Amino acid sequence: MREVFGTRPWREPGDTPAIISVCNFKGGVGKSTIALHLAQHFAIHGYRVLFIDCDSQASSTMMFGYRPDVDLDEEDTLYGHFHNPELLGVRKIIRKTHFHNLDLIPSNLRLYNLEYEIAGYMAKNQNMEIIDLIAEAIDTVVDDYDIVIMDPPPALGMVSMAVLQAANCMVIPVPPSLVDFASTVSFIDMTRTTMKQLEKIAGRGRPAYNFIRLVGSRVDESKSMHREVLSMMRQVFGGSMTQSVMVTSAEIDNASSRMKTVFELEKPVTSHEVYNRCMRHLNDVCKDIEQDVLGTWASRAGGRV
Ligand SMILES: Nc1ncnc2c1ncn2[C@@H]1O[C@H](COP(=O)(O)OP(=O)(O)O)[C@@H](O)[C@H]1O
Ligand SMILES: [Mg+2]
Repeated sequence: MREVFGTRPWREPGDTPAIISVCNFKGGVGKSTIALHLAQHFAIHGYRVLFIDCDSQASSTMMFGYRPDVDLDEEDTLYGHFHNPELLGVRKIIRKTHFHNLDLIPSNLRLYNLEYEIAGYMAKNQNMEIIDLIAEAIDTVVDDYDIVIMDPPPALGMVSMAVLQAANCMVIPVPPSLVDFASTVSFIDMTRTTMKQLEKIAGRGRPAYNFIRLVGSRVDESKSMHREVLSMMRQVFGGSMTQSVMVTSAEIDNASSRMKTVFELEKPVTSHEVYNRCMRHLNDVCKDIEQDVLGTWASRAGGRV
C-alpha cells in the first residue's frame, strides 16, 4: 500500500542510515527483547531493516524461527564472513525473514570463537584494523537499508568492540535496580576508556554517535524501589533517557515462550488489559527511538512520527 501511495518512509540517499547497537554488558536486561521489537516496529512502519545477531547465545536468531546450532552452519553467521570475506561477501549471509523488509544475519554458538580469533589476529599481525570487520561488512550493504540493528553479546569483548565501532547510535536498556544502574555506569565508563585506548593505539578516530539513549527496561511501577531508582536515573542521565520505559510484562514472557514477539501475537496470551498495556509501552519506546533516528536524517529533521 505504501508503495502504491508513495508513502514509504525510506530515508533520502543523503540521510545517514541508523546503525543501532542495543547494548549493555549485562545479560537478561532486555537487550534482545528491545532489539527485536524495535526491528519489527521499523519494518512494520515500512522502513528497510537489517538485524544482525552478534551474540553467540543467538536468542534473537531463535526468535526468527531457527534452531541456531542445528539449522545453521558457522558460514551462515558473521563468523563465516570473518573467515572468508572475499569468497562469501556479507550479502550471502543475509536472509529474508517472515517479516517484509526485515532481513537477518543470524548467529550460533560458533560465533563465540570470534572473540579469541580477533584477539589472536591482532596479536599476530600487530594490527587493530580487524576491529572494523562488522563496520566494513555493513558498509557494503547499507545502501539497501534505512536501519541496521545489532544485538551484541553481554560482555565488552572483541565482538562488542567491533559492534561499537560499527554503530552510529546506541540504545542502552537499564532495569531500574541499583545493581543494574551501577553496572550500566561502569559499562559506559569502560566503553569510553576502551574507545580512547583504541584511538591511542591504533591512531584512529573515535566513533561518533548520533544519539545515545538509555531506556528503562523491565520496569515494575508497582515497586517503590523501581520508581525511586528510575527517578534517580532520570536525574543522572537527564535528557539521554527516553521518556517512555519498557515495563515488566507477563505478555513478553508468554510471547517469548511461544518464540514470538508481542507484535507477532494474534491475540492476547494473558488478558486484553495486560496486552494493551504492554503494546502501549512497546510502541512508546519504539516511537521514541524512531523519533531519534528521524532527527538524524536531514530530510526529516524536526519531523514528527
Ligand atoms: N519487559 C519485560 N517483561 C517481561 N519479561 C521480559 C522483559 N524483557 C525481557 N524479558 C524476558 O527476560 C529474558 C531475558 O531477556 P532478553 O531480552 O533476552 O535479555 P538480554 O538480551 O539482555 O540478555 C527473556 O526471557 C525475555 O522474554
Ligand atoms: Mg540477548
